[in-house]
Parts: sequence; C-alpha cells; structure tokens
Amino acid sequence: MTSCVLSKLVLSSTRRPLSAMALEPTHSAHFSFQAPYSLDSPAQRFSPIEHLALDGPSNTHKLSSFGMDAQALGVPDFGATEPFKLFPSETIEIINSELEKHAHETTFRSPPFAPCVMRGLAHKSEFIRDLWNAPQLQALLSSIVGIPIEPHPMAFERAHINVQEQKYSDSELVEVMKQNDDATGEEQPVFGWHTDSQPLVCITMLSDVPEDAVGGETHIQKADGEVLKLQFPAAGYSYLLQGSVIPHAAMPALNYNRVTMITSFVPTNPLFCEKTDLDLAIKYSPADALTDEFVKYRCDYMSKRLKLLKRCSTSDGVEFCENLLDEIMADLKHTKDSLSRVKDTLTK
Ligand SMILES: [Fe+2]
Repeated sequence: MTSCVLSKLVLSSTRRPLSAMALEPTHSAHFSFQAPYSLDSPAQRFSPIEHLALDGPSNTHKLSSFGMDAQALGVPDFGATEPFKLFPSETIEIINSELEKHAHETTFRSPPFAPCVMRGLAHKSEFIRDLWNAPQLQALLSSIVGIPIEPHPMAFERAHINVQEQKYSDSELVEVMKQNDDATGEEQPVFGWHTDSQPLVCITMLSDVPEDAVGGETHIQKADGEVLKLQFPAAGYSYLLQGSVIPHAAMPALNYNRVTMITSFVPTNPLFCEKTDLDLAIKYSPADALTDEFVKYRCDYMSKRLKLLKRCSTSDGVEFCENLLDEIMADLKHTKDSLSRVKDTLTK
C-alpha cells in the first residue's frame, strides 16, 4: 500500500467568501501527521532511473478522434491519454513525504473546486522540482503529444496538489447506493465543465484507490457531446490532457480521499499560442509571488515570439509578420487584462 499522509489530513469544510479566501498559508494546527520517517531525514535525491516508469500509455486519443480540428485550433492533434503508470510506488512515497514536509507553508483552504490545495511545492522540494524537470520525462510526454513540450515556466503551475475528501462514510454510501443504482450518475462535479488556461496538464494520482472506489473520475467531452471517463486504477498512475481545448469536469470521490498532483506543460515552440491567466490561481496562491512569476513568464514568452519574428521576418514574408505581430499584441493585452482581473479579485 502506498502511504498517503495527506489522506489523513483533517479537512476543514469551512467555506469563506472569495475576498477572505486563504491567500495566506494555513497552519499546522489543521493537520494530523503520521510521518513515515523523521522530518529531519536527509533529502532524497531524484533519480530518473529509479523514480520514473517510462513505458508510456497503451492508448492515446487524438483530438481528431474526438471530432475536433487541431489544425483549425492551432494546437497539436493530441487529446488525452488513458491513465498509465508513470511513477513507481517508491516515488509516490517520497512525494507524499515531501508534501508532508512542506504542508505548513504550501497549503491553502477552500478554493472553489477542492477543500484543500497545496501550491509552490516546486519551489520548496528539490525532489519534486527535479522530477518534473527530468529530460526523460519531458521526452516521454513530448513523444505522446507529438511536439516538444516542457514543464510550465511558472513554478506555481507545477506540482499543484488537490486534496478531495471522500464525500460519504461507508454507511452513508450504502444509503445513497440504495436510493440510486448509479449514485455517480447523480453526483454534481466538484469542478464543473471547463477548459484550462494552461495548454496541457499531467495529472497524477498520489493516494491509494480502493478496489471498490466509487467516483473520482475525470469526465472529458468530445465534440459530439459523448463523455469519456478517465479513472485512476492506483497511485502512481497519470494521464495527460490537452485541457485548454477539451471540456472536462472532475467528479467527487464518494468513498475515498483523492489526492492528485497536477503539472502544466507548454509547447516549447513559441509559435504556439499560450494563454495562461491567474483567474483561478490567484484565489489560492500568495498574490505577490504569483503575479511576479506570471509577469516574468509572460515577458519571456513574448520575448521568444519577438525573437521569432526577428529571425523569420525576411524568409516568411509580410503576412506571416503581420499575423505574428497581431498575436504578440494580443499577448500583451491578455497579460494586462489578466493582471487587471487579479487586482479586481484582490480588492473585492
Ligand atoms: Fe481543468
């Protein structure tokens, strides 16, 4: 069994208005820790050979198989993978220990879609930072998507943790199942239908999945409305999703605690549009650090696009330059508008 300390957290169900939402980390008084080893243990060093499983998924869905036109959308023809084993159980134990070690300074309460999230682990944990920066991991995920991709340059968008508390006790679930043969069909998503502002996400299961698990799937919607359900079979499994294009929703885990780690990826080639914003993230991140990271990232992204313009201007003709300049001007506006909405959110 994989140890998951976070599944033992005492989760507060208190909801607060947005303006009072936890923009400061919570404190250890909310937690009940059962450390598998001393918190003073020397840090575990990440090893790609030991800590990654690089076989990849057995099944990948293209956007075109979902009835979407990748070319018209200007994105790679990749939709989603089925869940596949990405991390051995030892890696999951180390990650969970890292979460425990840094919970005090990275935990936020009551965002709209989960009672508890953790942010900034890529800043705090060398192991988690090295894991997501591993060239072997990037090569695998790039080969799945079909273009070179890299971890999101904003460290806050790597190793985001969602902690979802089981919705019903065992006895409550029996009652719910009695009332409805298909209780999951009646449940409302914990995070309703949406698309992401980050291009691609890799979602990893960190907690144990019981054999009789009910709920906790991600629903993804094809162009004709058909819904595909992705369910993690066990801790250490991940799936990759082009969440900026495919509408998706997270269903509640009815009879188990569900802890997931989400890392965003962006195309390496700056020709691809990228529209990261802070609309959600500002509700559960330290505002100054997040906006600082966002501005720096957007400047780097737009600089790469300007360099591309400079490099290509003579060879690709005026029309290419015009189109790219239009996109860069839209990038500037998107960056400013995102910051304006942050200001509005913080002053509400
Ligand atoms: Fe999403």
